[in-house]
Amino acid sequence: MDARETMYEGKSKRVIRTDDPALVILEFKDDATAFNGQKKASIDDKGRVNNAISVLLTEEVQKAGVPSHFVKRLDERRLLVKKVEIIPVEVVVRNVSAGSFAKRYAIAEGMPLAWPLVEIFYKSDALGDPLASDDVAVLLGWAKRRELAFMRDQALIVNEVLKTFFGHVNVDVIDFKLEFGRIGENLVLADEITPDGMRLWERGTGKKLDKDVFRRDLGDLSETYRNLYERLFNAPLPAVGS
Ligand SMILES: Nc1ncnc2c1ncn2[C@@H]1O[C@H](COP(=O)(O)OP(=O)(O)OP(=O)(O)O)[C@@H](O)[C@H]1O
Ligand SMILES: [Mg+2]
Repeated sequence: MDARETMYEGKSKRVIRTDDPALVILEFKDDATAFNGQKKASIDDKGRVNNAISVLLTEEVQKAGVPSHFVKRLDERRLLVKKVEIIPVEVVVRNVSAGSFAKRYAIAEGMPLAWPLVEIFYKSDALGDPLASDDVAVLLGWAKRRELAFMRDQALIVNEVLKTFFGHVNVDVIDFKLEFGRIGENLVLADEITPDGMRLWERGTGKKLDKDVFRRDLGDLSETYRNLYERLFNAPLPAVGS
């Protein structure tokens, strides 16, 4: 498997073609963006931390039976994954009110929800990823009804896995975002599972351990991510290239 040219350069990752049409490389960059790309910065070590965390969490959810695009880790920044046709829907699971949910309904952040809420958003930077319904997604041809049902089910399984996993290191999973893709008739979990797309609060203190540190200028994101790595792997982030 050899790397070829970049197929797509996103805000936080590059998608690189390989000589196998069924496989692509995902390369995690250090770039951070917020508010739909309006705020930008380069964050030391972010790519390496996200690559490692995404592998760790994806393997964890795969053990619970959730199919994913993941094939193997190539190096500290790059993963080999199955190429999918991305469903243009972001699947968000919420356990506690925060972010756009709290704002939309004018409620406080930090209110536990009686059960995990799954929301779907239309993946469109131009429109600012608007909230959508299953009916709209089917009507506009983004996904089949059975695909939406599958994504919701899998997202709830992922939620249980993540809550348990992070619970062991004293972290509450407030909410997170997933993307799914098609390989033929089958759907798999795609993209990444990283603190870029999750809210993680330290149990007891509520200290934010995710990208909100950058969005809201709460401190040093690079340090936050290295600390999160250390908490999850019980070891410091290795030096570059080791
Ligand atoms: N297995 C996969 N096969 C093909 N594309 C994938 C796969 N996994 C993730 N992607 C896509 O690769 C891109 C990764 O780049 P990145 O996450 O930086 O994009 P982005 O700037 O967030 O933009 P957007 O997700 O809106 O396209 C995303 O478009 C994501 O949907
Ligand atoms: Mg993305």
